[in-house]
Amino acid sequence: MSNLSDSTKLAHVPTNNAKLIAWVSDMAALCKPDHVVWCDGSTKQYDEMCELLVKGGTFTRLNPAKRPNCYLARTHASDVARVEERTFICAATKEEVGPTNNWAPSDEMRATMRTVFDGCMRGRTMYVIPFSMGPIGSPIAKIGVEISDSPYVVVNMAIMTRTGSKVLEALGDNGFFIPCMHSVGAPLAPGKKDVTWPCQPDISKKYIVHFPDTYEIWSYGSGYGGNALLGKKCLALRIASVMAKKEGWLAEHMLISGLESPSGEKTYIGAAFPSACGKTNLAMLIPPKGFEGWKVTTVGDDIAWIKQGPDGGLRAINPEYGFFGVAPGTNMASNPNAMLTIQKNSIFSNVALTDDGDVWWEGMDGPPPAHAIDWQGKDWTPDAGRPAAHGNARFTAPASQCPSIDPDWENPAGVPISAFVFGGRMSKDMPLVYQAFNWSHGVYLAATMGSEATAAAIGQAAMRRDPMAMLPFCGYNMADYFTHWLNVGRKVPNPPRIFRVNWFRKDENGKFIWPGFGQNMRVLKWIVDRVHGRGFAVESPIGWMPRHEDIEWKGLDFPSGKFYELMAVGRDAGTAEAHSHEELFDRFFDRLPKEFTFERELLRSRLWRSPERWELAHEE
Ligand code: OXD
Ligand code: MN
Repeated sequence: MSNLSDSTKLAHVPTNNAKLIAWVSDMAALCKPDHVVWCDGSTKQYDEMCELLVKGGTFTRLNPAKRPNCYLARTHASDVARVEERTFICAATKEEVGPTNNWAPSDEMRATMRTVFDGCMRGRTMYVIPFSMGPIGSPIAKIGVEISDSPYVVVNMAIMTRTGSKVLEALGDNGFFIPCMHSVGAPLAPGKKDVTWPCQPDISKKYIVHFPDTYEIWSYGSGYGGNALLGKKCLALRIASVMAKKEGWLAEHMLISGLESPSGEKTYIGAAFPSACGKTNLAMLIPPKGFEGWKVTTVGDDIAWIKQGPDGGLRAINPEYGFFGVAPGTNMASNPNAMLTIQKNSIFSNVALTDDGDVWWEGMDGPPPAHAIDWQGKDWTPDAGRPAAHGNARFTAPASQCPSIDPDWENPAGVPISAFVFGGRMSKDMPLVYQAFNWSHGVYLAATMGSEATAAAIGQAAMRRDPMAMLPFCGYNMADYFTHWLNVGRKVPNPPRIFRVNWFRKDENGKFIWPGFGQNMRVLKWIVDRVHGRGFAVESPIGWMPRHEDIEWKGLDFPSGKFYELMAVGRDAGTAEAHSHEELFDRFFDRLPKEFTFERELLRSRLWRSPERWELAHEE
């Protein structure tokens, strides 16, 4: 292996950045690995690491005729999702991190980290992974360096971020980087055989720790993507949200996509949904029948960094380089572009292995295989009575392989954003789509977003308020985050329009009313029309709403009765919803922006004056 030093003395250090060298030396002295390897980002090193993972049993190479250069990993059963209750934001006082984060006093947690990391890499190799979030050298990009004892992390980081020597070059001798420390927390005693998925199996001993004051990340005990690929949730959201607040921009849990009309008009949107609500599907949407000539392009599927551009408008980049998508439910109908993206050069985690060396998961096209090996490595047949893939099984795939990737996805200046879309998973009382009256009302709508549980995090409540889909990802007091959002809108001359959507409403038989997936294009087109001042809407107590005739229905038979069933919110349900916003707001006490109190009172009085059930169909 290249750059492999035979001791922790850091021979072959490929940088002159004194801070980086000092930090790596300090961490090597603390963690006491057998070897230190600097990752250069080369294909050669990537292949060597994959080979190492195959030899150690962590990876199974998939059938190259079916999935060239693809691998399957099975995690430990304790290590399948983000661990929100073990995710900490450190600060001197609890007020700084607010009521929605797990607070830990910085000094105490720093001492704890020093203790748990002491000797944690014995018997292992410490990898140093320089990475860039955003195109290398872009003024919007940030550089991080992850230290990890997991080769699985090294290869996943190589797909999810831009890594290696070119990042060190951009960093230079004095450049700033965010130090990201990671260990699976499983030192290997001399002569002891490794397990295929080393981690700290006791969830209460895992730590995902952030120090916003010093821009540092320490993650211990887990190899799962969201806990271990530190460029993603930890850096690009939790730490970046703090940087964004200080520097006047936004780091958001949003997909970015481009909607191009047959006349060539291009409109970019940022859309926030809680984890596992189909962001990847929406980002890669293929317009349905009736939308011939329309094109949807993908800039990103999970994270957006949004800054004011030279013309005053907001511009967004995707800081990531790959997709870490939820596999179950992904198929040629729900997301053909994702299925094409993951045909090669991809890593699959916790999906099932078919007898012909391919992957399978619940909801994939065609009938289930007659036999497979499930995500726990056990024989599986369709009558096994348990899923073959874990509900949060994932694929890691290069964004550049996506057929719908936007030509400007690596534009260092970003793409102009015209609308923000916010959507939770709500089975009742939340319409398919409506538009905020103005920026401040829109920020209120986004902040009061609610969503029913998904499989992306362990231990979630059945329904939770998830402001801006950032509840698990905001690195500081959320009340200050709301204020920051309000302030951003004040600085932008013509701020993006804000919309709420809900694809997940169910009828009285528990069936989804809206077909979803490609049909979401109909809602997006109304959004585009509104943005450009063309689309019609009626005023309702909760916002601007389309009538049946305001949506493009070509190619889909969706009667108006069914549409209004999707759109309906009665006065009582609306009032109960407005009332329950207080439960969220009360937690922030006087830190809550006063605009929110006004917005809630305005909403209440609009509802109070409204009929029991407003009928959009009869309004003009
Ligand atoms: C993700 C998540 O993996 O939000 O994107 O959990
Ligand atoms: Mn996400």
